[in-house]
Amino acid sequence: MNPSRFSTKLGLYGALITAWVATMGSLYFSEVSGFAPCTLCWYQRILMYPLAGLLTLGIMRRDHHLPHLVLPFSLLGQGVSVYHFLLQKTPYLGSPSSCGIGVTCSTVWINWFGIVTIPLLAMVGFMIITTGMLFVIASETGGPGKASAIQWPRWPAPLIVIIALALYTAGAARAGKVQVSLPEFVRPFVYELQIPGLSTGPTATPLPTATPTSLERGAAYYSQACASCHGENGVGVEGLGTALANSPQTSGLTESEMFAIIRDGRAADAPDNRTGIAMPPSGGQPDLTDEQIVDIILYIQSLQ
Ligand code: HEC
Repeated sequence: MNPSRFSTKLGLYGALITAWVATMGSLYFSEVSGFAPCTLCWYQRILMYPLAGLLTLGIMRRDHHLPHLVLPFSLLGQGVSVYHFLLQKTPYLGSPSSCGIGVTCSTVWINWFGIVTIPLLAMVGFMIITTGMLFVIASETGGPGKASAIQWPRWPAPLIVIIALALYTAGAARAGKVQVSLPEFVRPFVYELQIPGLSTGPTATPLPTATPTSLERGAAYYSQACASCHGENGVGVEGLGTALANSPQTSGLTESEMFAIIRDGRAADAPDNRTGIAMPPSGGQPDLTDEQIVDIILYIQSLQ
């Protein structure tokens, strides 16, 4: 028994599981939760998705070049996700809209414990994969020729892939996105599985009357936080956000309803969602204060 076998297995299978969790998790966020991916998210996906397949095939073929094929992707991915995380969480990198049309890269879809955002999850994922590959390289002490003598087990790889696909399908089924009839015995597991939700608890605020300065402030906050999806002047953007100007939906909302949807967002599977697209809490800007939201509401009301 080769003493380095355990770290080889740990590195390979740690990386494999991470790549599948990241791939399925990212698809869950965009396809089931309805979170629109920004440009930087796409770069991270382009670097992560191939790793799920590459690691599966490499392990199945017992290919000892695998770490050298994986590392360029995982290191680059790590760079992008660190950049993206800093862009969301620090004011030092560029303007919020610095990555183009559609959802801005500073839009925060999830913000668990006030720190865990999607790029942070990606960053941790790329880090585990990189570390796993370094483990494999370090444990192959005999040099590339000798290394091929290490015979790691192959059978867990397809099993992990099947579990990842089954969990994704179960999650999507629970959210009503795919129709599958689950065998009776797995139902309790599926329906107990809780994906932490978005923020809750609307705070109703009696609104002050609009003044020219508050409207000006509201318009500026709106441009920053909302226009990427709802369009400049509230005209709407196809596939991202509804029109808010001259909209019966918007003018039909009471002030506290309006406050609640802006603060809490609306999940894609919420019963009152009309478009099947999610709106992020605070428009994806967790720092938006109650006062700023009030200014935005006054501005939106002025568009009716
Ligand atoms: C990432 C895209 C996105 C961003 C950013 C965003 N929204 Fe939305 N918003 C949506 C979508 C999609 C809906 C429609 C949800 C539905 O189908 O019910 C929506 C719905 C609304 C509604 C309810 C009216 C309606 O048409 O259903 C209001 C009000 C609203 N948004 C205000 C805002 C404000 C104010 C901001 C900025 C602080 C903002 N939104 C930022 C995507 C976005």
